[in-house]
Parts: sequence; structure tokens; C-alpha cells
Amino acid sequence: MPTTLPTISATDNSVIDEVLVLGFALDKKSKKFSILSGELRVDQGPLLQALTDLGASGASDEVIKLPGSASKLILLTALTLKADGSIAHEVLRRAAGAAARSLAGTTSATFALPQFSKQDFQAIAEGALLGAYTFDEFRGSSKADRKPALKKVTIYSKKAKDKSYLQGIKRAEIIAKYTHLTRDLINTPPSHLTPDSFSLRFKKLAASLGVKVEILNESQLIKGGYGGIIGVGQGSANPPRLLRLSYSGKGAKKRYAFIGKGITFDTGGLALKPAQGMEAMKSDMSGAAAVIAAVFAIAQLKLPIAIDGWAPLAENMVSDTATRPSDVITIYGGKSVEVLNPDAEGRLVLADALVRAAEVGKKAGGLDGIIDVATLTGAQVVALGTRTSAVMTNNDEFSNQFLKAAEIAGESFWPMPLPVELRASLDSPVADLANIGDRMGGMLVAGIFLKEFIDPQTPWLHLDIAGPAYNEKTAHGYTPVGGTGIALRSLVQLAELASSQS
Ligand code: BES
Ligand code: MN
Ligand code: ZN
Repeated sequence: MPTTLPTISATDNSVIDEVLVLGFALDKKSKKFSILSGELRVDQGPLLQALTDLGASGASDEVIKLPGSASKLILLTALTLKADGSIAHEVLRRAAGAAARSLAGTTSATFALPQFSKQDFQAIAEGALLGAYTFDEFRGSSKADRKPALKKVTIYSKKAKDKSYLQGIKRAEIIAKYTHLTRDLINTPPSHLTPDSFSLRFKKLAASLGVKVEILNESQLIKGGYGGIIGVGQGSANPPRLLRLSYSGKGAKKRYAFIGKGITFDTGGLALKPAQGMEAMKSDMSGAAAVIAAVFAIAQLKLPIAIDGWAPLAENMVSDTATRPSDVITIYGGKSVEVLNPDAEGRLVLADALVRAAEVGKKAGGLDGIIDVATLTGAQVVALGTRTSAVMTNNDEFSNQFLKAAEIAGESFWPMPLPVELRASLDSPVADLANIGDRMGGMLVAGIFLKEFIDPQTPWLHLDIAGPAYNEKTAHGYTPVGGTGIALRSLVQLAELASSQS
């Protein structure tokens, strides 16, 4: 059922494979191409002439295929160089991804891309695997016409036999496996992914990794006082759930909680969204998908850290039982919220989960950090577009640590403020808070709403991934159309950084 990952290995041997992948770059000053491979740079020869003859531009995502001799095919993937001639690891990740993506229908390829560090090697391995993704689960008669993803990836490196490089291959496999899992979940239509089926999907996987699963059903949620999750889910025939995954690595010194927005479909409720574009709201559980997959990846990496992953799951529907504008609900822990707009539902389910996660964390000895991940606002997309996500925080040190992790992981996040003056716009004439405030700065207002449910002593990050979670345009680099898997790599990288600190 899930997309199968290509097999991957590394080699330091001379390369003969079905396809040989090399890099190429255009020198902006001399307007000349060079071929880049391993630690080699080739500035003349027939391949370079071919690039010129074919009218190559060297722009990122450009892939040129030429017939080979030893290898059936030579694939040249464009690299954009920094001013000093060096190559960013994310450029390598994307170039490997673009190559792998264009090799759908092919069996085996060796990636002999330039690399000067283990981080470069790792990026190439990740990019190749991340680009080899297809989602054909729901195709019937058209399935046979689809080219399957590349099946076998080999990464060429002089250091292929180093233990740390072999570990790098293992890590890339884990990152790709769980990015694909995240994408699969996002791409699965709401007809086939309900709060209940989402929560039940991982029992086997969790057991195999020593991850504990706890699921609260609707009656337990009502009894427990989870007014946010119930209020959002009560209009749907598919009742809500609260899923919790707990991983506790050997020797763990730090404990974090990850919370992902899990709206399996967002119609807007009684504030019904326009039909055009509503289909993209199957992706409104991207935060939950990333968080759950991150816990599994961290468990499979056996990191010495303790993580609780929380997914408040609900379907935001229109019906005679749906929450009305002006209804008042009570969030877990007792704060009341006037629901002025049932389309601002993500913050309601997150509020319950944030309070509960902090309570559980406190019992376990306190949280070192709490991170929520959500496709929360259209305002995020307006502000930062579809490829950059936002980070909001009550703790700049934690935010900077996360931004460092995101940079290493090759995911684009940008810090956003939580201006205090916007808080007053969330005042309600009847309840402790309203669920909407000023329209201007809507992304920040949503962050300020969530902050009301955070203990100021606990370092907290709010990641709004509304734009980057779901690619409605065309594929690029290692990113396919549909679910992208954004946030997974940064969360795992953060856990790695945190667990290596004492
Ligand atoms: N799920 C949406 C946000 C969204 C929009 C995600 C576009 C991805 C792409 C969220 O539940 C929502 O509807 N937010 C409202 C909030 C508003 C009513 C304050 C929005 O952004 O319009
Ligand atoms: Mn909504
Ligand atoms: Zn939503």
C-alpha cells in the first residue's frame, strides 16, 4: 500500500550503471559550463559541447539526458554555485531530487555528484530518495500507464566505506521513509482518512519501534473536557480522536512534545469555504502527519531523547450538529472560547492538545520544549508564499536552535513576531477569548491565540506550514505535487541536536 522506497547503497568503485548522474554548472562570468562529479571538475570535452548545443541554461531543476556508452544514459542535473564556487547542501539535495524524479520508469542510477563533506553526501542521498516518490494508490484503470519511481539508488563517494558514511545512508533511508509516510497521509483523500482511521493506522509500526500509542475516542474526549476537539468535530459523522505517540529513548535527558494539527478535511464548517480550492483542504492534517512521522523517525534512529507526539484529529464539517458562530466551548483546562468563526478551527483543536501535552509533560518531569505544527492560516501563505514556513515563539533561544536545525535539514523557515498589541483583538464580550481577532496579521493573531494556552516558562514554537505543506503547482527539486512532508526533517534534526547536548 505505501510507496516503496528505492534501495540505496554507496560505492567508491568506478561507476557502471544503467544511469550515471553527474552535476553541471554554468559559470556566470565566463558563460562556460563545467561538469561536476565527486571532487572532479571538468571544463572541456564532448559532454560540455553537448550542453551548449542543446541550449542548456544551468537553471536549477534543469535535467539533461544524453545517451551513454558504459552507462545507457548520462543524466546531467543543474547545480547553481555560490559566488565562491562552492555548492550549498540544499542545492545538491534538490539537484539529486530533480534527477531521481525525472528517472521514474528507470530501474537503477548511480549519483556521482560533487561533494566535499559528509553533509553533502547525506544531502545527495536524501535528495535522491525524496525525489523517488509517486502516489498511485487510488488509481484504477490509469495505474498501468504510470511510470514507477526509480528503484535502486547508488551514491558514489570516495569515502563510501567510512562507517559514518554508511550511517549517513541509513539515516537518509529513515528520513525518506518517514517523509514518504507524511506525504502518503496528506495525499490520502478524506474518504479514506478519517480521524479514526488515521489514529488506527500506526499500531503495528508503533509496536515494532517500541512507541506507545494512546487514542481517546469521542466519548472519552467529552468526558475529559476536550471542548476544542469536540466542538470542531461535532458536525461530522466521522467522530474526532486524540492520538498520542510516546517514545522514550535510552539515556534520554531531554523531553519534548510535538503537536500537529490533524483536520482530516476542513470545509470551513458553517463558515463554509468556496468550492473552488476546497479540495486542497484534505491537506489540513499535514502538521499531524509530520509530527507522527517525526516521532517514528526519531524512534527508528534510536535517539536518546523522550518525545510525545500528539495529533488532535477532527473533520470540520457542515451539519445540524456543527458549531455555530457565537457558540462558546471550553478548552481542556478550563479556558472558554467564543467561536466567532468555525473556519478558525485549527487553533481550537491545538489548544486542547497543547494544554494536555504540557500536563502530561509536567508529570513526567517537565518539558524542555513544546512545538506545534499546523496548516493554520491563509495569512501565512500571503506573508511567506508557498515555500517558506513561519516560526513563532516565546523563547528566542529555542527558536534559533530550531532555525539552525531547519537550515541543516534544508527546510526554509522564517521567524515571525507575536506582537502584544494584537492580543486585545481576541477579547470576547462573553468568553475568555474569541477564536478570531484582527484580520490584518492573521498568522500572528493565530499564534497569539495559541500562546494563551502555553505556560510562559516552557519554551514553545509554533510552526505555520499552511503554504509549504501541500504543493498545488508543479513538482520541483525533490518536492512532488501534493503533500511535501515539510517540517519532518527539521523536527528530526532538532531532536538530533538536542539529544547530542547534555
Ligand atoms: N486550514 C485553514 C488554513 C489554510 C489556508 C491552510 C490555506 C492551507 C492553505 C484554516 O483552518 C483556516 O481556514 N484559517 C482561516 C482563519 C480565519 C477564519 C481567521 C483563514 O486563514 O482564512
Ligand atoms: Mn479552517
Ligand atoms: Zn484548517
